[in-house]
Amino acid sequence: MSRNILIVGRGGREHALAATLRESADVGTVFVTPGNGGTETAGVGIANVAIEEGDFETLLAFARSEAVSMTVVGPEGPLADGIVDRFVEAGLRCFGPGQDQARLESSKAYAKELMRRLDIPTAAFARFDQYEEAAEHLEAAASGVVLKASGLAGGKGVILPATLADAQRSLRAIMVERCFGDAGDTIVIEERLVGQEVSILAFCDGNTVAVMPPAQDHKPVFDGDLGPNTGGMGAFAPTSLVDAELLDEIVETVLQPVMVEMGSQGTPYVGVLYAGLMLTAEGPRVLEFNCRFGDPETQVILPLLENDLLSVFDACVDGALGTIDLVWRQMAAATVVVASDGYPGTHPVGRVIKGLAEAVGQPGVQVVHAGTTVDGNDLVTDGGRVLAVTGVASGLDEALRIAYQGLASISFEGMHFRTDIGFRRVRDSSGLYASSGVDIDAGERSVRLMAEAVRSTHGPEVIGGVGGFGGMFDASRLPESPVLVASTDGVGTKTKLAVALGRFDTIGQDIVNHCINDVLVQGAEPLFFLDYFATGSLDPEMAATIVSGMAVACREAGCALLGGETAEMPGVYLPGEIDIAGTMVGVVGRDDIIDGAKIEVGDQVIGIASSGLHTNGYSLARRVLEGLELSEAIEELGGSLGGALLVPHRSYLADVKAVREVGVIIKGLVHVTGGGLVDNPPRVLPAGAAMRIHRSSWRVPPLFELIRNEGRIPESEMLRAFNMGLGMLAIVAPDEVERAHRAIGHESYSVGEIIALVADRVEFVG
Ligand code: AMP
Ligand code: GLY
Repeated sequence: MSRNILIVGRGGREHALAATLRESADVGTVFVTPGNGGTETAGVGIANVAIEEGDFETLLAFARSEAVSMTVVGPEGPLADGIVDRFVEAGLRCFGPGQDQARLESSKAYAKELMRRLDIPTAAFARFDQYEEAAEHLEAAASGVVLKASGLAGGKGVILPATLADAQRSLRAIMVERCFGDAGDTIVIEERLVGQEVSILAFCDGNTVAVMPPAQDHKPVFDGDLGPNTGGMGAFAPTSLVDAELLDEIVETVLQPVMVEMGSQGTPYVGVLYAGLMLTAEGPRVLEFNCRFGDPETQVILPLLENDLLSVFDACVDGALGTIDLVWRQMAAATVVVASDGYPGTHPVGRVIKGLAEAVGQPGVQVVHAGTTVDGNDLVTDGGRVLAVTGVASGLDEALRIAYQGLASISFEGMHFRTDIGFRRVRDSSGLYASSGVDIDAGERSVRLMAEAVRSTHGPEVIGGVGGFGGMFDASRLPESPVLVASTDGVGTKTKLAVALGRFDTIGQDIVNHCINDVLVQGAEPLFFLDYFATGSLDPEMAATIVSGMAVACREAGCALLGGETAEMPGVYLPGEIDIAGTMVGVVGRDDIIDGAKIEVGDQVIGIASSGLHTNGYSLARRVLEGLELSEAIEELGGSLGGALLVPHRSYLADVKAVREVGVIIKGLVHVTGGGLVDNPPRVLPAGAAMRIHRSSWRVPPLFELIRNEGRIPESEMLRAFNMGLGMLAIVAPDEVERAHRAIGHESYSVGEIIALVADRVEFVG
């Protein structure tokens, strides 16, 4: 007897599920609620029913009246609201996880805590229910962060802020202005990871995990991964970034533990478990869990399944997945999403779609609809993602060619699609995590490894790609009367410490932030950065990790990593030795230059907290601390000595911008670098002026005290070698001090004032 199926949902995923289930031997009618124009016009055996996804009672009554023998739930919303529990309670078969299990997706805070408990590799994070605490945490975060509204926010709840100020604005928007409503009651603040993203989906029956071919989605709306994130603009599978070994590792360390945990809690996980992972230089890390099929991943995974899909769903629901062998075709599939202009923002609907029949008729082409509807005799657009064209072939290149060729006949007004789906495939054999290509030399390999991170810093101003002889930056959008400000600096002997600790992820941030601060002192905001990395013997992974760190800092500052040089110089540097330098170019409007000229007696000095030693004084610090174990935890440092010494140089870009934004005039800025508090202030003071600094006006962090005590270093030497906890000094008029303090995101102190020059250019009192 043939069986009727009900699919809940309206997108491309649901159309793909319906089309595949329709192929099952013993399927009668596939009902889709509410469906789309594609499922409506699919022909015999597929029918739309006008019931909304959230209307469980009507859905249930319909399933009963049509003797539906399996209900398959597409989107996360109804799963999070407990549709499966409701159906199962009523004695109906329903594929998907229950409400408790769906919290893996519906509550990021729950998912993160589960991962922490089960030791599942994921980005470091903290969760907050209170705005003030979250805001404090943001300020203290050493490097890039990601903000995630904990609840379901229609795919928009994840924010990757470019600067601290952006992060602060977004945090307010979510927690105070409540732009995502209740979804933002709890927020997760995460470490920002760098790498390639993959989607790993698996069928689950409560006991067994049967993984599907690894897929890659393309979330940003424009070519080259630019523009805002969408639900997904195209996908392909399998991706060679995840080989069999890595896939096993992901099953064992990510999917299986979740399955086992849920089983032991008495809430077995049935349905699709989908892990979004970032392949970082340190290994795979979970970005998120979804409790359902991906869209558009489904469009490229289902064509590869040899088994009858309905029997797989049956096996899941019956806890019998272990008794069937999943067989995947040795083929590739690629899908290109066709969207409406303006998506993911507001976009028009009702545009007539032409040329579909020609596309569908081509061999290897499958078209699923997402945002379409039938209007009289026409098929018209009815959403952001309108449809997806999939190519299936023996290899990925061919699959992509077929998809794009299929798409060529389709048209509607304001149609938009990415022309570079699958572009990462050319780097597959050398992606950030892929195993080493034996015949690629180290130089080429390191460039390939870092290319992705570098490219991620490029906005529309960067012309040309990675690897040209010279980097090109379109200067036509610079402010009026632009003055370019440039600075070159090096990380110095802090590199020795990184080598000793084997940690290379932060020193890239050091050099970028150091250089940002140097141009910031003139009032300039960074435009682009070029780096120089030299070593005795090139380790491509290390080089890529360092440059990825630079990319993190560049992205955070909204500045492009425009070029660089990696030099291997055996004999000049000993094996294992490295040197890192770079040049920043920034811009400031002629009238906004900060040059110290207007500084006058009586002006006040504000000190902004440093994050540690920054990049200065390491020769002295290393000598003094030589006898101590770097890995040893030291209570007052709140961690290991090595960790405290390696904290990256802080950028003051956001602070200075914030102060200027509230209208405070900064008359002078002092970046407290080599020469410490003694030699740097005179670099901006006008003739006849001196700076008086009150020694007890700020808290000197414990690391500096430790160095002082261990080395019995005299005060005068400490003040000349280190920043002593103040990384930037700002000089403002007395009546602007309070406003400046309020605008600054970090800890700041009133540390002194400008006096008439008598003897020393900097005088310490107290
Ligand atoms: P999610 O919904 O958590 O997958 O986040 C949406 C997108 O934001 C992801 O696909 C990533 O592109 C990006 N993202 C999320 N978390 C991180 C992170 N910790 N580091 C870098 N990018 C992230
Ligand atoms: N393609 C991403 C998702 O389905 O969440």
